[in-house]
Amino acid sequence: MAPAFARVPGSAEPAAATLAATAPWDAETDDVLTCVAVRPETHDVKTFVLAAREPRTFRYLPGQFLTFAFEIGGETLHRCYTIASAPTRPHTLAITVKRVAGGPVSNWLHDNLKPGDTVRALGPMGEFSCFAHPGAKYLLLSGGSGVTPMMAMARTLHDLGAGRDVAFVHSARSPADIVFRDELALMARRDLALRVHAICEADTPGEAWTGPRGRLTPALLRDLVPDFLERTVFVCGPKPYMDAVRAMLAEAGFDMARHHAESFDFGALPEAEQEAAREAEQALDDAPAAGLRSFRVEFAKTRRVLDCPEDVTVLDAARRAGIRLPSSCAKGLCGTCKSKLASGTVAMTHAGGIRQREIDAGMALLCCSRPTSDLVIER
Ligand SMILES: Cc1cc2nc3c(=O)[nH]c(=O)nc-3n(C[C@H](O)[C@H](O)[C@H](O)COP(=O)(O)OP(=O)(O)OC[C@H]3O[C@@H](n4cnc5c(N)ncnc54)[C@H](O)[C@@H]3O)c2cc1C
Ligand code: FES
Repeated sequence: MAPAFARVPGSAEPAAATLAATAPWDAETDDVLTCVAVRPETHDVKTFVLAAREPRTFRYLPGQFLTFAFEIGGETLHRCYTIASAPTRPHTLAITVKRVAGGPVSNWLHDNLKPGDTVRALGPMGEFSCFAHPGAKYLLLSGGSGVTPMMAMARTLHDLGAGRDVAFVHSARSPADIVFRDELALMARRDLALRVHAICEADTPGEAWTGPRGRLTPALLRDLVPDFLERTVFVCGPKPYMDAVRAMLAEAGFDMARHHAESFDFGALPEAEQEAAREAEQALDDAPAAGLRSFRVEFAKTRRVLDCPEDVTVLDAARRAGIRLPSSCAKGLCGTCKSKLASGTVAMTHAGGIRQREIDAGMALLCCSRPTSDLVIER
């Protein structure tokens, strides 16, 4: 149990005595985070600083993300957010969120989440980190809100003070859209091994952009980072940006084994995963001919019923039957499709998107669960 002196009375701060001896966040048992600060970053981006309900230290690789479950309008909505802060400052973590037009969660966060409020989160998860894919020199390439994992890596390398050679090239719409502009400039002034470049497509009213203009091109990349072919590259941004960078690097003869990309849009799955989805559809068509068993799946709340062959995931079978279920990554990672099984059993191969205690309580990720009996699902 947390000691009584865990927090400074009347404050969210851990008391000095607990700072050094704080227990680590345990992803299996801890899930409540309290918002301790909200910081505007740009006109449409805010940072939310979060601490565990009882003092905890957070261990993660810079670039990893958390999956949050937000209670909004009587519904539970799951979304992933990169931890933009650095694990070198372990008592809090921060997410930096861009307001997306019409998006239910980003707008709710911007308009509602305030210090003292709590949210639930699972993780950290993900492989997108310079600590998972180390290299001698790094090139961090980001577009728009894709800056967050790069910032986590840059902040961490900066705090570690080892003078690691990092080139950080960020593309933004206008100067007013450059997230972390002042902090990046400060870090680059203090650490000569960190070079930061911003590229803007347009001016901001009141500020004419004097730096590189337009979009990232091979010529501009060569100009800003002449030795880019020697670097380990991390890329995050909108899909067209990521596609353009991938093509640019491949065309330049870059060793793509040193290219690491993260997408904020799991819908933009790589071709291999789209192929897997097509194969699942084919399996559905072929199921009776192949002599596979098929199970009855009932959705208790909507009263919809479908047949799901034993080698097809419940999510794929539902999609095929025209039933829309919440989903995002479709690979057992993000937790969006988590559902309660009222009865029945599944074979599930997940990638960290569910805790053991949730499995023990009868929860399953429908995107990576194949039925092993008839099922009733609480949806
Ligand atoms: C691994 C991972 C990490 C992520 N980290 C961050 C992060 O650090 N900061 C952040 O702001 N978002 C991040 N996201 C995106 C985030 O999970 C939500 O998708 C986003 O906040 C929009 O949610 P919403 O409910 O408001 O809108 P939704 O209804 O989910 O999305 C509305 C539409 O906007 C598109 N969209 C989603 N995000 C963006 C975006 N950033 N810019 C432009 N269009 C977008 C979606 O594809 C969709 O078509 C991350 C996503 C993933 C998968
Ligand atoms: S959709 Fe991401 S875990 Fe199922």
